[in-house]
Amino acid sequence: MPAVVVVGGHWGDEGKGKIIDLLAGRFTYNVRYSGGANAGHTVVNHLGKFALHQIPSGVFHSGVKAMIGAGVVLNPATLIEEIDSIKSRGINLSNLHVSERAHLVMPYHLAIDKARDNCRGDRRIGTTGKGIGPAYTDKAARDGIRAGDMLDKDYFLSQVRANALIANQYLECVLNSPAIDVEELVFQASEWCAALSPLICDTEDLIRLALRRGEWVVLEGAQGTLLDLDCGSYPYVTSSLTTSGGACAYLGIPPKDISHVVVVMHAYMTRVGEGPFPTELNDDYGDYIRERGHEFGTTTGRPRRCGWFDAIASKYAAEINGATTIAITKLDVLDGLDKVRICVGYEYRGERISHFPARSQVLAECVPVYEELDGWETSTSEAKSWEELPEKAQDYVRRIEELLEVPVSIISVGPARNQTIVVK
Ligand code: GTP
Repeated sequence: MPAVVVVGGHWGDEGKGKIIDLLAGRFTYNVRYSGGANAGHTVVNHLGKFALHQIPSGVFHSGVKAMIGAGVVLNPATLIEEIDSIKSRGINLSNLHVSERAHLVMPYHLAIDKARDNCRGDRRIGTTGKGIGPAYTDKAARDGIRAGDMLDKDYFLSQVRANALIANQYLECVLNSPAIDVEELVFQASEWCAALSPLICDTEDLIRLALRRGEWVVLEGAQGTLLDLDCGSYPYVTSSLTTSGGACAYLGIPPKDISHVVVVMHAYMTRVGEGPFPTELNDDYGDYIRERGHEFGTTTGRPRRCGWFDAIASKYAAEINGATTIAITKLDVLDGLDKVRICVGYEYRGERISHFPARSQVLAECVPVYEELDGWETSTSEAKSWEELPEKAQDYVRRIEELLEVPVSIISVGPARNQTIVVK
């Protein structure tokens, strides 16, 4: 069964882009299956440094067919910009396809996203403002417009106009926010049709056929498990399914076709936006990690909250994804620390618990119970093999592996493709 899923195991930004770029050369298809332009996958390879938002991260391998699959909510305007920007750097995108089933993010979704979060006051979720939540809302309400609709331009433009008029009523009358210019939107939408129609097809059918032929397919998640709409720290989550199960649900791939699940985790934790974060560090250690790890959002530029590795949250992520392998990224960020800590339990109202709570109110009251290990002084960023890692760094990775009960087979020690250790 040659389908491999790569997902984030934390609250996003784990470095999935790097891991997909590393692995994708072995695959025929690379399919992105959830989220939208709220993702910011950074890829650093021999061709340069690229920030991808909607285009799959395996696109730099010329033999790979890259697909923006069902499950993604696609912003047509920014996709066109992203395609132009990548092409202008000499990358061939003739193998890029877009699913007929992908829903579209419209300018009114962005306006609603921001206005609604502002209305929440101190209950703000801290959305990226990219219109993702409102686009998934329209999808669930069966009001969405799909990429496939662009293949019938008159129908598409009539849908855009009708939906924009309704969205304007909501913006003006409910959210007390300015309306968008409907005719301007219809004009833009007509240009999107011309630019994107040649890429749109039934990608899910192509994937199913490829799997039947025994070709290898890598399914690319966005955001992270702890942001999953159902399994994450609700309501501080994203609006899509971010787990490996999401790949099956969105793309119509039966679970039995998934042979491997790679769960990507940083060597510590980060979180953007609101929501409980038990191991958050508001001290010099947190600043050290943020600065060394450049923990500022690719999409929003917001500083990421940083904290010690949380083995309770991470084990939960490993379990619900059915992890067969863990990829640990950013181990190098911890170089030079005198000590490192791993959260091995929570204390909740005086009682020790060792599961990830369903309710964010409970998680917010969880006090981490730490195990402390020695740090390592030497740099890991040049290490090319397990043996070249400092012993204390090996101990740290081994302890994570023990706690998660899943092998750590990939260790990333820098942003570049070649700064990676594959553990035999
Ligand atoms: P989202 O889908 O938005 O969650 O993105 P992502 O999981 O692909 O992660 P993102 O690219 O936003 O963040 C990872 C950042 O860390 C990027 O700037 C990468 O270049 C960088 N990075 C990845 N692996 C490593 C590593 O091992 N060490 C260091 N120092 N940086 C890394």
